[in-house]
Amino acid sequence: MKASERSASSDATSTVAIGGAFEDRLVRALQPIRRFVLAIAIYQLFDSGLFKDLAQSRPVSTHELARRRGLDYERLDALLRYLRNEGIVLQLEGGFALAPLGEAFAEAEPWYTMLVGGYAESFLQIGRALRSDADAATRNGAKVGVGSCGISHYDAIPLTRELMNGIPGGCRSILDLGCGNALYLSELCGEIPSLEAWGVEPDEGGYQAAIELVKERGLEGRIRLARSTAAEFLQRDLVGAPDAVVLGFVLHEILGQEGEHGVELALARIVDRFPAIHLIVIEVDWRVDDLPEMQSGLALAYYNPYFLFHPFTRQRLQRADYWERKFRDCGLEIVDKRFVDPAVDSTGLEVGYLLSKASAVQ
Ligand SMILES: C[S@@+](CC[C@H](N)C(=O)[O-])C[C@H]1O[C@@H](n2cnc3c(N)ncnc32)[C@H](O)[C@@H]1O
Repeated sequence: MKASERSASSDATSTVAIGGAFEDRLVRALQPIRRFVLAIAIYQLFDSGLFKDLAQSRPVSTHELARRRGLDYERLDALLRYLRNEGIVLQLEGGFALAPLGEAFAEAEPWYTMLVGGYAESFLQIGRALRSDADAATRNGAKVGVGSCGISHYDAIPLTRELMNGIPGGCRSILDLGCGNALYLSELCGEIPSLEAWGVEPDEGGYQAAIELVKERGLEGRIRLARSTAAEFLQRDLVGAPDAVVLGFVLHEILGQEGEHGVELALARIVDRFPAIHLIVIEVDWRVDDLPEMQSGLALAYYNPYFLFHPFTRQRLQRADYWERKFRDCGLEIVDKRFVDPAVDSTGLEVGYLLSKASAVQ
């Protein structure tokens, strides 16, 4: 199906038709505000744990929810009535429960965690950060790491797994630079019983979330974690050489923070330290000007806001051909290139590479 045929018919602005009575025009023009508040309210349902409480088979009273979670009754009541009016929860005899519309949001939780929990504060700083003398906008690094890994569960982790299959001799040990909450390593160690792993995460909140997840899954003996940037970590002593290094959506962070030189240095350090290494790099192809593709449902719902926050938060996305040139310039060879399963993401914007040190004779 062509991207243009997948266009999002219900996007926030398509309903703003010209003309009509004042109130009709006003209602249409206010739809983005309605959606803005709704997105925040749904995120808060997830983040507070209320979503799980309301997903149970029996309705729960506001008193019980407030008691269980230590919440203010009046404010919770306002949130639940607001969500009832939006069709997200149902008010039944015994209390509140998720409505079928609310249940349908369950698998989208990580997108809310990253885009609202991680970047809502950045979006609100766009005005200030637009000024030529302004600092970058802030973000919530822990929510970014946890949300990104949660999204990766659906797209980039299966892609990483496919790319790992191309490593000659298999993959017994792996180093994940910018590992967020270590979900990649936890899932891969769950699937591959002999796998040994290291995870490196500079954000304090992301690092703490990684410690918690590894403990929760009983993987402390197999996943070692460090709080560090990729550059700092690559200067440390590591016992043994991993078979693979994963950089999932991290090179564009390094590019924004340290420039081209930082990316080149990080790639050079990896291959200098581990000459037999395979690198798995996942990036988003910055096809922001591909207008037919950018009109598709997932591109408008996810990639368009995703493309927006990067320059405001010291991250620099690039086109896939930029990364391919950069890999070659850094003496790396592309062993495999793959995209996310189109049943999950049909945009083809997320791309994964398996790289190794280029052989001397080309
Ligand atoms: C978009 S998240 C990706 C998380 C995970 N790798 C994934 O694929 O879902 C980027 C992660 O890189 C981390 N990060 C940022 N700068 C970094 C750096 N210089 N070195 C290593 N990691 C970095 C962030 O804290 C964040 O957890």
